[in-house]
Amino acid sequence: MKKMLFLLLSFSAFSQNDQIVRGPYLQSMTSESVLIQWRTSSPQSSQVTLVTKGEKKTRVIADTNRVIDHIVKVSGLRPSKSYTYSISPKHQGSFHTKPKAGDPKSVRIWALGDFGYVSPNQKAVINAIKNYTVDKPIDAWIWLGDNAYNNGKEEEYQQHVFDVYQADFFPNLALYPSPGNHDYAGKHDATVPPYFKIFSMPTQGEAGGVASNSESYYSVDYGSLHLISIDTELRDAAGNQVMDGKGDQYDWLAKDLAANRLPFTIVYFHKPPYSKGSHNSDTESDMKNMREKVNPLFEKYNVDLVLAGHSHVYERTKPLRGHFGINDSFDEATQVVATEKAPNQYVD
Ligand SMILES: [Fe+2]
Repeated sequence: MKKMLFLLLSFSAFSQNDQIVRGPYLQSMTSESVLIQWRTSSPQSSQVTLVTKGEKKTRVIADTNRVIDHIVKVSGLRPSKSYTYSISPKHQGSFHTKPKAGDPKSVRIWALGDFGYVSPNQKAVINAIKNYTVDKPIDAWIWLGDNAYNNGKEEEYQQHVFDVYQADFFPNLALYPSPGNHDYAGKHDATVPPYFKIFSMPTQGEAGGVASNSESYYSVDYGSLHLISIDTELRDAAGNQVMDGKGDQYDWLAKDLAANRLPFTIVYFHKPPYSKGSHNSDTESDMKNMREKVNPLFEKYNVDLVLAGHSHVYERTKPLRGHFGINDSFDEATQVVATEKAPNQYVD
């Protein structure tokens, strides 16, 4: 009888191998856990086999529920540790767990925005990042929105994102995304975009920061970095977007920034406060409002770096303070500040 059961399980694992159509990909990476996700073309049970680097012992995490979208939580991990895993004989990956909050070791973050076109540029960037990181591996991957053109549909995420990055990146990189207007198909209702079904964000403060209780926005303590992912598209139940300077997301952002004690803070989102590229922040109200109503909060809490997408050019400002008006009101003499701040300014 026991022998029979073993044969059946083996058959199940083999058929799963033939039917994996997406993934594996890594979500909600913390210092102790990660979600390993993948999709099968028909309902299957889930199984992850995990090996800690330098150890022979394997761990198997299994779920007998038959599903198409698989999410296996691997917990009991140790910070800054390397692991390898497999979900089938042909589908493996490896990852480093997130360093503990405050770990001073330097980290390398790959920020990518407005990419899912299957364009020559997208392929050129893949080659560039692969060449650049040969001897300098990436620790984590953040997305600045408009991840899958043109409307963030399931098939667009498959063809323009998963099919493009699966071989080199998805199985091995902790990913902390943010959405853009194309992921929302130009709307503002978070119940619609496939983005929220495909990705699993750390909403309970499990990766650090204040619990957001929303997959739209969240924060992550990554070593000495406090990463904050903002959703510029979401409209909350009361009708507020973050750039209104009020509402659920804005209130959470203010609380999260106030609670942060890490030396470096990076905020990332889709619509930039300053741009004269393919979008104009003097005239487009969402960007204008980000600058007028959210930038003061960033400055109050000494955010070190703001990354945004949306405008399809490379632009960077000098370190700024107090420039909340249109381009012509910029005063370099008073609004450009020194590049350095006192380290650990907000460390107790
Ligand atoms: Fe955009």
